Amino acid sequence: MRKASIVLLISIVALFFAGCSKDPERMTDAELGLTAQQSGGRRVFHIYCIGCHPAYSSHGNKGPGLKGIFKRPYLPSGMTSTDEHVVDTILHGRNMMPQFGNQLDQRDLQDLLAYLHTL
Ligand code: HEC
Repeated sequence: MRKASIVLLISIVALFFAGCSKDPERMTDAELGLTAQQSGGRRVFHIYCIGCHPAYSSHGNKGPGLKGIFKRPYLPSGMTSTDEHVVDTILHGRNMMPQFGNQLDQRDLQDLLAYLHTL
């Protein structure tokens, strides 16, 4: 009986850690705990941004990885991590990054920002 509960406990702990190490990119919006707005932003991100920016890694692809983008004081360019600077980059582009001002409406942009804040 005791042995069984120890085995059960070990399985629960193992499952817990397996859950933690799951690649967030493969997790559903619900598993990530995203709000409706943040999920909308994730969709926008998957359409326009993911080709160049990994969301859950700080290693870049064509552009820098955006993990923790708003949790650090500075953006990769050295500008402070404010909504204003990020919106400016998205709308007008930056060096090799194309501009998205003509493709995103105000709502897409707000949703996208809400999602970027979860990274
Ligand atoms: C074609 C590739 C490409 C796409 C698509 C792209 N980016 Fe970028 N992005 C880049 C590159 C390259 C940089 C680095 C620019 C530089 O030299 O500072 C960058 C930089 C950034 C930065 C950092 C800005 C800074 O000040 O350091 C943010 C934030 C960003 N991109 C967000 C996005 C978002 C959000 C999208 C989707 C709407 C997107 N990017 C789509 C290539 C891309």
